Amino acid sequence: MTRKLEVAVVLGSTRENRFCGKVADWVVRGASADERFALDLIDPLQLNLPCHLEAEEGLAVQGLSAQVAAADGFIIVTPEYNHGYTASLKNLIDSAYEEWNAKPVGFVSYGGLSGGLRAVEQLRQVFAELHAVTMRDGVPISNPWDELDEKGEIAPSELRQRALKSMLDQLAWWGSALAEARRAAPYKQRAA
Ligand SMILES: Cc1cc2nc3c(=O)[nH]c(=O)nc-3n(C[C@H](O)[C@H](O)[C@H](O)COP(=O)(O)O)c2cc1C
Repeated sequence: MTRKLEVAVVLGSTRENRFCGKVADWVVRGASADERFALDLIDPLQLNLPCHLEAEEGLAVQGLSAQVAAADGFIIVTPEYNHGYTASLKNLIDSAYEEWNAKPVGFVSYGGLSGGLRAVEQLRQVFAELHAVTMRDGVPISNPWDELDEKGEIAPSELRQRALKSMLDQLAWWGSALAEARRAAPYKQRAA
């Protein structure tokens, strides 16, 4: 049997009573039902990362770096804050560097009408700098709080399930291709 791809689901909010957990739960339910993936969760609320970048990495940053290094790909679950993404997500991203390199990143976003798309477009620029590859198809969810099911969970509409499947298919393709390429030759950053 081929090795499962290690995919880390990254939560993009640390706000008290955040909605992010519901969206991440929906993503985890969908991706863990897919045999191609083994999932990990990266939650900045649990990590307690320092807000300033330390000269010597503490345990929280070391733990995060190890999680990012172990992953073959990522699904970022992000809200939109003032037409961007959150400070806690930027802090998390900036706390690692090479560990993100040559890996695929997919997005599930949420917010008002925009479904968090403006946050995602900004994140694409950030991940390009980290030599990561962002998936074309994401899953933008508009006003998800208005349409929870009877259990209070994100309702799995057909459109949304299809969007998640497209993103996961792209993540699986890029994840396998890049894992193989990294095994064949370590990725080296080249200065312009
Ligand atoms: C500081 C702040 C700024 C926000 N700005 C936007 C925005 O620009 N666009 C949008 O669609 N929603 C915006 N919202 C609403 C969020 O989409 C909504 O509160 C969502 O639940 C935030 O995710 P979270 O609960 O997981 O933190 C904002 C919320 C906060 C707290």
